[in-house]
Amino acid sequence: MSTPWGELGLDAARLRAIAASDRPLAPHECAERARQAAALIEPGRLDRSGPGEAVLLWRDEHSEAWLNLWWRPRDTGYHDHTGSCVGVHVIEGRAWNEPLTIGGTPEPREYGPGETFWFPGEGIHRMDHQAGAITIHVYSPPIQAIGHYDLHDGELRRTPVPPDEPSPPSAALYQALHR
Ligand SMILES: [Fe+2]
Repeated sequence: MSTPWGELGLDAARLRAIAASDRPLAPHECAERARQAAALIEPGRLDRSGPGEAVLLWRDEHSEAWLNLWWRPRDTGYHDHTGSCVGVHVIEGRAWNEPLTIGGTPEPREYGPGETFWFPGEGIHRMDHQAGAITIHVYSPPIQAIGHYDLHDGELRRTPVPPDEPSPPSAALYQALHR
């Protein structure tokens, strides 16, 4: 089986040029780089069998970028990026970004093909991805750890998750916030 890098004919030098920076990126700069990297992706070349995967496009001193192939629906649960901000570009399908809010009605925002958004490093959010969605996420600085949030006997807890592991849905916290 070929890797997405092989399928897509990705050019490491062009990706490095997009990533290039002498300092950490602001959230909107992450989003702009995600948009630029998306221009190098030809979704028609992808093998869509299997559950999907996250493909590392680059990781350098100041940022890292992932091409996410969501062949199945994916709820990330509520999480933070331990201070790393993120910029997201949607190539195909739909994705929803829901900042964690207390006291009001949660307002997940929907993004479709060609749309870009960003989220601050101090924030806590949850993302939903439609089956078949393709997104690029650029984080700055590179993620050291993910903090995952859920309720345990009604108490909010933060659990560290390694940066290369998918965070699970936050079943109890989701229920509590989406009454
Ligand atoms: Fe996130």
